[in-house]
Amino acid sequence: MPKALVCYYSRTGNTKKMAAKIGEVLESQGLAVDLKKVEDAAAADLLGYDCIILGSPTYYGTMAWELKKFLDESVKLHGKLRGKVGGAFTSSANIGGGNETTVVDILHALLIHGMVVQGHHQFDHYGPVAIGRPDQRSLDCCEAHAKNLAALTKKLFA
Ligand SMILES: Cc1cc2nc3c(=O)[nH]c(=O)nc-3n(C[C@H](O)[C@H](O)[C@H](O)COP(=O)(O)O)c2cc1C
Repeated sequence: MPKALVCYYSRTGNTKKMAAKIGEVLESQGLAVDLKKVEDAAAADLLGYDCIILGSPTYYGTMAWELKKFLDESVKLHGKLRGKVGGAFTSSANIGGGNETTVVDILHALLIHGMVVQGHHQFDHYGPVAIGRPDQRSLDCCEAHAKNLAALTKKLFA
């Protein structure tokens, strides 16, 4: 069974709710899922997963330093995450508050690791975003992305 990690930082619980939804959908699609706060994760953990999905609140148009630190620490695995499936999600306060730049910043790091990312033609294109607490629209985007990434992971790793 392919293994997925959903790892997130969340100060007030909004990104955490998105993480929970993504984890639940990945599991429903037949992946073994670990849901971890970034504070409880070590970069070396990443080696153990086929699919890695990272989330952060939008802080000044990018990810919170807690997730950036985690990604910077992942340099010691450089080259070893190549070919794994990756994704990103965020919650921001405002519609134009930098949520897409946050998702893309996280995806940049995953791409630099040589990971495989997938956009969505219909739902949030780069990765799910929420405005504050995730509403039904955001949860639907979490579901659509999680289904896509689960299907891709199974294609590559089942
Ligand atoms: C330090 C800081 C910076 C923030 N920067 C932005 C920002 O640039 N754009 C925005 O829309 N919201 C910004 N916010 C609001 C958070 O992104 C928003 O409240 C989010 O839903 C929090 O997610 P969480 O509940 O997972 O912690 C900021 C909040 C903090 C504390």
